[in-house]
Amino acid sequence: MARSDIVDVVSDYVQLSKRSGANLFGLCPFHSEKTPSFSVRQDKQTYHCFGCGKGGGVINFIMEIENLSYRDAIEFLARRAGMQMPAESDEERQLRGRRAKLLELNRAAAMWFFENLSKPEGAAALEYIRERRLLPKTVKRFGLGAAPNSWESLVDEMRRRGYADQDLIDAGLAKRGKSGGIYDSFRNRLIFPVIDVRGSVIGFSGRILNGEEPKYLNTSDTMVFQKSRNLFALNLAKKTKRDMLILVEGNVDVVMLHQAGFDCAVASLGTSLTPEQARLMKQYKDTVVIAYDSDGAGVKAAQRAIGLLEPAGLQVRVLRMEGAKDPDEFIKAKGPEAFELLLERSANHVEYRILAAKAKYDMDTDDGRLGFLREATQILAENPSPVERELYAGRVAEMIGVSADAVKSEVRREGRYRAAAEKKKRERAVMRPEVSAQPVSKSIRYENVASATAEEGVVSLLMADPQLVIFTGELTPEEFTSPFLGRVFAKIKERWNAGAAITPAVIASGLEPDEASHLTGMLQRPVNLGQAREAMADYIDKIKTEKLKESGQRDLLAVREKYQKKKGLGG
Ligand code: CTP
Ligand code: MN
Repeated sequence: MARSDIVDVVSDYVQLSKRSGANLFGLCPFHSEKTPSFSVRQDKQTYHCFGCGKGGGVINFIMEIENLSYRDAIEFLARRAGMQMPAESDEERQLRGRRAKLLELNRAAAMWFFENLSKPEGAAALEYIRERRLLPKTVKRFGLGAAPNSWESLVDEMRRRGYADQDLIDAGLAKRGKSGGIYDSFRNRLIFPVIDVRGSVIGFSGRILNGEEPKYLNTSDTMVFQKSRNLFALNLAKKTKRDMLILVEGNVDVVMLHQAGFDCAVASLGTSLTPEQARLMKQYKDTVVIAYDSDGAGVKAAQRAIGLLEPAGLQVRVLRMEGAKDPDEFIKAKGPEAFELLLERSANHVEYRILAAKAKYDMDTDDGRLGFLREATQILAENPSPVERELYAGRVAEMIGVSADAVKSEVRREGRYRAAAEKKKRERAVMRPEVSAQPVSKSIRYENVASATAEEGVVSLLMADPQLVIFTGELTPEEFTSPFLGRVFAKIKERWNAGAAITPAVIASGLEPDEASHLTGMLQRPVNLGQAREAMADYIDKIKTEKLKESGQRDLLAVREKYQKKKGLGG
């Protein structure tokens, strides 16, 4: 990766400018912000965002922003730098072969499902397609198909074509029964192939044809399919000329929208929306219009989705379909033109959230109005657009019957308060490591903060100057209370012994995203190499004392237990 300089690579996505010390700064591509807190260090070949905490080396960056696996990120960078791929290991070649096999099987299955529509086994699905008024050209564009109402028609067919039972199971197309035989996963369903942005059939959704449950069945995660990282119909929607994506709940809604000319509709695949899916959308468009069902569950899901889409830097709008439960029903009842209008006027999400807040309070009482004002002020203060703040402050004022100026000054006060809190947080993150001792990420939790702080100190010193390894003496990774820091320490020692380079980027590339982020966060703090030996000794001392304290406590407990037993108090 010598030729993939991090500044060069990041510059493809982020405008880096403001230099501050060794850092280059820009607006973070992973969360929405107005002042730059995303930093890149050329000397260390790392990035770190002081706002959202994301960080790592150039490979982590590409994995994150392009939504790629480790291997694909390397390939991406190699291609970008015009280089040959590094030679594959045997294991990697096998994996790639296996994936190719499963994709080939998926494609064959998709074709077979599609062909069923013109056979007697597909009659029920075809009837359902007619009922829902999907046209033949739509069926063809999406490659819809029929899973017959039988237990092993797909299994039989694919066996005949030479596929092994294990292939069918690994692709999620068949399941193993109690008797040891295998049976079709999808039965009596309308089939929607899920096609990724590169055009591979990676999985399937199936909608039940009668009233049985579950309504939708999706391929479980396989080597080639992860529900949480894909969106139904994105392969088509990414080509839209519209400047937005429409996010809906059901596959039928997606297909109907495309048929009606809204070729930018996508749906998540039976999970609630994930951050990865939000980021995936952001790769193609800056605006997402949520058109979930108008029932209670849909409204709740929409509110949750807003909370995921906005941090990904997307503009969010919410569609309110009065008199229809979902886009499919709306279009059938009122036609595409009406939906187009709805889209144009789609309630700005600010309005949506304000109305949702209002609905919670009894506006006939002072308490209710005050409660609503407090909540509305919060909503408005987070809004980065002065125009929208002004506009909606006026509306809120009308709703509670006070002057617009009063609401505006409340919003300004809240805004100032937030700005000050933000600033403090940023300063603290850079200047005072001990305050942010406990990692922000929930997946790394320090059991012993005192020891972990010292462990971080050891790691920081070593990353600043790997030669300091010689002063770590007898310290072993097992003595670390944080398994993550222990692994980092082990890796540093291992590379030191092997004479390999120890750079933040190399160390970070082997870590989980949260861990890499936390590591680069640590490395942003200043290290005083002047007293490095003394500092190292202090840290190690602290780690050992904490260890002693822990075992001391255990001994104490043991003694007490014994004592209690003796007194007949039970164990
Ligand atoms: N769903 C799912 N898997 C999919 C798509 C949707 O599990 N691939 C789930 C969603 O989470 C949502 C529900 O199924 O809860 C969507 O239902 P609905 O919008 O009612 O689907 P439609 O096909 O539009 O059903 P209907 O014919 O009733 O309009
Ligand atoms: Mn629906």
